[in-house]
Amino acid sequence: MSTAAKPPLKRIVLPVFFALIFCFIVLQFVNRPLITNPPVTGEIEAPAQVKAILKKACYDCHSNETNLRWYDKVNPVYHMVAEDVTEGRKGLNFSTWKDLAAPDQKGKLWEAVNQIIAGAMPLKNYTAVHPGAKVSLEDLAVLKKYLSDMVVSKPADTSKTNALDKQYKNWTKETAAQTAPSVSSNGIAYIPDYKNWQVISTTDRVDNGSMRVITGNDIAIKAIKENHINPWPNGTIFAKIGWDKIADVDGNVHTGAFKQVEFMIKDDKKYASTKGWGFARFKTPKLLPYGKTKLFATECVNCHRPESANDFVFTSPVKH
Ligand code: HEC
Ligand code: HEC
Repeated sequence: MSTAAKPPLKRIVLPVFFALIFCFIVLQFVNRPLITNPPVTGEIEAPAQVKAILKKACYDCHSNETNLRWYDKVNPVYHMVAEDVTEGRKGLNFSTWKDLAAPDQKGKLWEAVNQIIAGAMPLKNYTAVHPGAKVSLEDLAVLKKYLSDMVVSKPADTSKTNALDKQYKNWTKETAAQTAPSVSSNGIAYIPDYKNWQVISTTDRVDNGSMRVITGNDIAIKAIKENHINPWPNGTIFAKIGWDKIADVDGNVHTGAFKQVEFMIKDDKKYASTKGWGFARFKTPKLLPYGKTKLFATECVNCHRPESANDFVFTSPVKH
């Protein structure tokens, strides 16, 4: 009879419902990971305003003072939270901040502010349930100011500024024949031509005490004109040039010593393992290649990851 094949809805729905509730309750006890708060050994020292922002927006995952709300402790959420806290503390922990050397602290802060600007931090699934943790534009301005006060060098005396201005002029005049040949561990050679490429942007991002200019080769410029920039065509090359930033006695900001030039070369086949881009960095006027092994490029890719929807490129050229 057809009634046997078609039982009343209630007879299925109710048992399933109770089974789910049972699973949910069991889940609360199963394999419960423990988030502990180890001692705070060397907390970051920063102005109260800065600290308050880090505390409300980052401390739950990036300190030993994780403060879980009751709804964070309900499984399966608790498992996800525990993982975020473990992973978050590994990469950045404001409670053991003083274990880092001063330059590394600056580097981490720079990365942190850029992660906020890129919208990658705090994690979106976290701010969805903790709206109070959102970083407002005012908050961001406070963090940027804190960072830039920390990294811009003290006023240099006039002779030093002049010497550095001369170094800069020489650099702009230097020809390909004069530069030392240099090859990165992933096989990418220094490209002296980047000084003649068109400037795409000078970055107004929060900086690490450097002045930066980004140039692009002809293929990049053509792609911009034709609005062909996501993905960028094979053959596109970007150069990012960095100088120290120094302030002279009158408070004007100058380019200081040449720090480095970085390249990104697009070839979706050749560089498939690093998201279609070949990365290279050459440091100091000696153009020392960065990275002992070619694994250094994962560091580049990881920091560029917040831009994965823009073909891993931060710079968004002004559209004409
Ligand atoms: C809900 C947890 C959570 C919150 C809140 C959070 N983060 Fe993170 N953060 C993570 C996790 C997980 C990772 C590692 C994996 C990743 O990069 O997505 C991470 C990675 C990072 C990294 C990279 C660290 C490295 O490996 O070098 C930085 C920088 C960072 N977060 C900054 C911040 C800042 C600044 C805030 C506050 C404005 C913040 N995060 C808030 C979970 C969080
Ligand atoms: C700490 C994060 C971080 C790391 C690590 C990093 N980058 Fe970048 N990179 C940026 C940011 C942010 C920009 C955007 C311009 C700016 O603010 O200076 C950028 C821009 C660039 C650009 C210009 C094109 C663009 O995306 O806007 C090149 C070229 C570049 N990076 C190369 C490299 C190479 C090569 C490495 C590794 C050796 C590397 N980057 C590692 C953060 C990083």
